[in-house]
Amino acid sequence: MRTQVAIVGAGPAGLLLGALLHRAGVANVIVEQRSADYVLGRIRAGVLEQVTVDLLHEAGVASRLQAEGLPHDGFELSFGAERLRIDLRALTGRRVTVYGQTEVTRDLMAHRAAAGLATVYEAEQVQPQGWDGDRPRLTWRQGGAEQRLDADFIAGCDGFHGVCRATLPAAALRTFEKVYPFGWLGVLADTPPVNHELIYGRSERGFTLASMRSATRSRYYLQCPLDDRPEAWSDEAFWAELARRLPPDAAAQLVTGASIEKSIAPLRSFVAEPMRFGRLFLAGDAAHIVPPTGAKGLNLAAADVGLLARALAEHYGGSDAGIDHYSARALARVWKAERFSWWFTSLMHRFPDTGEFGARLQRAEFDYLCGSTAAQTALAENYVGLPLGA
Ligand code: APR
Ligand code: PHB
Repeated sequence: MRTQVAIVGAGPAGLLLGALLHRAGVANVIVEQRSADYVLGRIRAGVLEQVTVDLLHEAGVASRLQAEGLPHDGFELSFGAERLRIDLRALTGRRVTVYGQTEVTRDLMAHRAAAGLATVYEAEQVQPQGWDGDRPRLTWRQGGAEQRLDADFIAGCDGFHGVCRATLPAAALRTFEKVYPFGWLGVLADTPPVNHELIYGRSERGFTLASMRSATRSRYYLQCPLDDRPEAWSDEAFWAELARRLPPDAAAQLVTGASIEKSIAPLRSFVAEPMRFGRLFLAGDAAHIVPPTGAKGLNLAAADVGLLARALAEHYGGSDAGIDHYSARALARVWKAERFSWWFTSLMHRFPDTGEFGARLQRAEFDYLCGSTAAQTALAENYVGLPLGA
């Protein structure tokens, strides 16, 4: 087989890149190691920046999002019983859209199938080769036979545990990492949300997030120890702890019910530099990870592939300026999102090792936010997402 761009990974990054390239008339094939059902089963967040919404419109994959997405003009922070609304619309003129990122993946998969674009699922032992020369190719095994895809470029959209970054010579890569001393215990339930907007909470007992997927489906998170396990939490225990941590007037609105999903995710900040190696490009979680506090994971992946799709289309239009600047431009935005996600995580979580002094600093930051439009604007600008070229 031959194509113009070989994409490794059919997660949001790979699927959106494929859709944007197709829109630009650039042929592409996606090679994914898992089944489509497995990819759809991944637990994902639920907030889209306007940049992501615009890219999905550009890719022609936004009709269900337009119909079912929930525009949010603000969100709340709470410290104990105190609540502060961050008015995104008033402070930045922009908003976010609440829409399950699993639904984004589903919409992208449906769009790809309807366009008749080639996607290889359940590919075994995928190997990117020749990316440091002018004949890049992917090989893999399927049905006991060796398969090969020749291409002009390879896009590594294969996530944090993928093969593309792992295949690069260690000397060619610089990585930066911070692991947080806690995780998030998440529950999905068909119950009405406690509030019409998200509430990020800091209580003495730890972080909470009250989010949603719709007016009838809630998504909640509790900060938990790294060695905690979902099976150690009955639904009753989860609801009781959530009610203890939510601001009292929000807890009074809590409707409990059977959990339809319960899982624990660790929190990590990670960046690999650069994001280009000859004819191989990294995008999305293959290149960077953020703690979910700022809801930046999928949004950063979308921004990467928005830049990469334009750069590759420009190459076929005769200019290599885009691909030559891709890594620097993508990383400039990645690091700003890494900073924001780290700052927001540091503000809202209980860090046992920073003791009472650290807790007082967090309280002081919240009090400053309550009294400063400038501080709220800085938070709002980062939350709604910086412009694509920032
Ligand atoms: N060969 C082929 N496919 C692979 C390989 C491999 N060796 N390794 C991983 N993959 C596939 C995975 O099975 C997965 O479907 O690559 C895909 C990577 O998808 P994600 O991990 O979802 O990463 P990405 O597409 O960058 O999405 C980024 O979306 O929902 C958010 O929080 C989520 O931050 C994440 C973001
Ligand atoms: C979610 O709804 O899953 C969600 C929302 C906002 C976040 C993280 C997760 O910051």
